[in-house]
Amino acid sequence: MDNRPIGFLDSGVGGLTVVREVFKQLPNEEVIYIGDSARAPYGSRPKEQVITFTKELVAFLLRKNIKMLVIACNTATAVALDTLKGQLDIPVVGVILPGSRAAIKATQQKQVSIIGTIGTVNSRSYTRAIGLKDDTINIFELACPKFAPLVESGELHSSIAKKIVAETLKPLKSFKHDVLILGCTHYPLLKPIIQNVVGEGVLLIDSGIETVSEVSVLLDYFDLSAAQLRTRQHRLYTTASVKLFKEIADDWLAHADFEVHHVELSDLLSTSN
Ligand code: DGL
Repeated sequence: MDNRPIGFLDSGVGGLTVVREVFKQLPNEEVIYIGDSARAPYGSRPKEQVITFTKELVAFLLRKNIKMLVIACNTATAVALDTLKGQLDIPVVGVILPGSRAAIKATQQKQVSIIGTIGTVNSRSYTRAIGLKDDTINIFELACPKFAPLVESGELHSSIAKKIVAETLKPLKSFKHDVLILGCTHYPLLKPIIQNVVGEGVLLIDSGIETVSEVSVLLDYFDLSAAQLRTRQHRLYTTASVKLFKEIADDWLAHADFEVHHVELSDLLSTSN
C-alpha cells in the first residue's frame, strides 16, 4: 500500500481527459496535476523546448512526493518519455503505447489513422509503436495544430470549433480507416464533433482510457495502490488562469472534488512549492 499521490502533467487542460479516467477506474488514488497552459500549445514548439518544459513540470511534481508519473501529453511523451524513465526512480507512464495497443486490438480492417500535434506526428511515434507489433496495419497520420488551442480557450461545442474540425479533418476522407486514434490528450474534449465529422463507423481511441488501465496494472505490479476509505485531496495546478482552467475542469470532471491552484512560471523551478 502506498498513499502518495500520482502525478500527471500536460501542456494544459488536455491531461484532464486522463484524470477523468483515474477518477473512474482508480477512485482510491489521489491526483496531483500540472497543466502548463501559460506556455501551451507544446505541439508546435521545438523538441528541445518541449523536453525542457516537461522536465520543469516533472521537477514540480516530484516535490509533491508522487509515487508514479503519468505524462498525460502525447507531445511530451514522444520526446521525453525514454529520458525520464532512465532518470527517475518511480514508474513513468506515457500515453502513446497504450493508445497504440488499443488501436491494434480494435482495428478489423487494419486501417488506422492518427491525429495529433505537429510534434507528435513528426515524431512518428505512433507509426513506430504500431508497426513494431503489427506491420501489416496501414497508418495515416495527420497533424491538427488548431485543435489544442481551441480546447485551451474553452471552445468545445461552438460553431467555430465545428468548422475548424471539419476543415482540418478533410484529408482523412481519402483514407479508409475503421479506427482513429485521438493522439493528443486535448482531443477527447472535442470527441462529439470529431465523431460527427468522421462518421459513426469509425472507432475513436481515447488514449487516456487505455493509459489508466496501464497505470492500474503498474500499481498492482509494484504494490503501490492506495488504501481505501481515506481522505483524498486532488490538487490541480495551472500556470495560467485558474478561472478558465476551473471552468473546463468542472465541466469535464463533473462532480469530482478537487482544488485548482495557480503556479507562477517563475516558481516552477523553485524548491519551495
Ligand atoms: N495535450 C497535448 C498532447 O497530448 C499537447 C497539446 C499541445 O500543447 O499542443 O499532445
